Amino acid sequence: QFRDNTLIVVFGASGDLAKKKTYPALFGLYRNGYLPKDVHIVGYARTKMDQEEYHKRTTSYIKNPNDDPEVAAQIEEFKKLSSYISGNYDDSPSFQNLARHMEAIEKSYQGRGVNRLFYLALPPSVFVPVSKYVKECCYATNGTNRIIVEKPFGKDLQSCRDLLSSLKQSWKEDETYRIDHYLGKEMVKNLLVLRFANVAMGAAWDKHSISNVQISFKEPFGTEGRGGYFDEFGIIRDILQNHLLQVLSILTMERPVSFASEDIRDEKQYLSCSHASFRSSQVKVLRAIPPIKREDVLLGQYVGANGKPGYLDDDTVPKDSVCPTFAATTLWINNERWEGVPFILKAGKALNEAKVEIRMQFKDVTQGIFKDISRNELVIRIQPSEAVYLKLNTKTPGYAFRAIPTEMDLTYKRRFTDTKIPEAYEALILDAIKGDHSNFVRDDELDVAWKIFTPILHWIDGKEGPRPKPSPYPYGSRGPKELDSFIEKLGYKRAAEEYSWPTTNVS
Ligand code: BG6
Repeated sequence: QFRDNTLIVVFGASGDLAKKKTYPALFGLYRNGYLPKDVHIVGYARTKMDQEEYHKRTTSYIKNPNDDPEVAAQIEEFKKLSSYISGNYDDSPSFQNLARHMEAIEKSYQGRGVNRLFYLALPPSVFVPVSKYVKECCYATNGTNRIIVEKPFGKDLQSCRDLLSSLKQSWKEDETYRIDHYLGKEMVKNLLVLRFANVAMGAAWDKHSISNVQISFKEPFGTEGRGGYFDEFGIIRDILQNHLLQVLSILTMERPVSFASEDIRDEKQYLSCSHASFRSSQVKVLRAIPPIKREDVLLGQYVGANGKPGYLDDDTVPKDSVCPTFAATTLWINNERWEGVPFILKAGKALNEAKVEIRMQFKDVTQGIFKDISRNELVIRIQPSEAVYLKLNTKTPGYAFRAIPTEMDLTYKRRFTDTKIPEAYEALILDAIKGDHSNFVRDDELDVAWKIFTPILHWIDGKEGPRPKPSPYPYGSRGPKELDSFIEKLGYKRAAEEYSWPTTNVS
């Protein structure tokens, strides 16, 4: 399965993403024996540094909390697999130099075919030149070549199309792996199984049973240190348009023909592509999500509270910025299964907790014998502490005859005590090494995703008049004060009785 003679080149090796995600993921794969035999990792960036400094940086985020000597030894071994070379991102001699470095390493492969995996942990401004020079100077002629790219894939529909077509001049679709790391998360992958391997779930998965759905992303910290980048993009481009929309599409798509990668990606397209100008016969069946309307949007920006700085206190953020750090948007799916069900995607920085979850609220039970009874809710906890639980009513045990809300609970840490859940980046890099595209974003999916969001993004960017002002919310709060009414207006009902999911023994 795994490709021997593999060389992985990490562009942007001195940057944040590489340090925090790429190298720890490569180490995780190495540790668990998932990197190919004879693998070599080459770090490439503009920064001039020696091998020692490179190793120090790239292993600084690898966790070894208890100073386990076995892990420490593995880190030392891991360093030996990896070397660094510096160069520019926009001239051919730098890439020729890289090519010579790779060929020297590949000599040990003794003429057997080589497999090169190029990982672009880079800002979008250099995607295009790097992909072009890699193709020109570093493309293996006797083996496979793959390129991994990271979001943001443009800023709106047009810039995304321009970026894709520039990349396509050098790289074929089957050589390209576009990462949305949410697709590598265990619970996001589990959605397919939960939905399609359970008749009980499938039966309730439509407008007849479901009243409303919330997909929420909450982070307890602000944009500290990333304000400059963030201000250009905002929370919608950072989280909703990619991570949460991917979750939504898997949650709502029709059953794929099989689990083969192209089949899955075709069904996601079914969900999201139709509304605009898609080709005639497809459009008929593939009718789906119209662009979000302004009245379906709530924007927020955090302000300083409890000793924590506000968004505008960040020196890298313009003082009058109206960039949203919180957004709730309602999406409607115009197909037979989901018509009339609101899908609320909401995400925020500097909130009261770290949590990503899907909450599907069922409709009211038929009235008559019960009054004021809580609704069922199916909650899929993506992180932290993966879980699926169904809130359901049960008779109070004992003499009384009343219904109270309780739950059926599948908490992973309790149920799968010995299983290690891989980090999203580990899973995705391994997929790319194996050549499996299932969990990567296809070009036509991006086009559709941008169509849904571009109109409100242009409005927020001030391209259609004055920019909307986000509602302030204190650092560490649940979000803007208008949030509860925004959700309740869409039919969400709070439990008739106080209810909280008992998580105490698994945090
Ligand atoms: C990234 C965003 O894509 O996802 C970040 O750019 C965000 O702003 C991160 O913090 C969240 O990822 P995770 O895996 O921690 O949920």
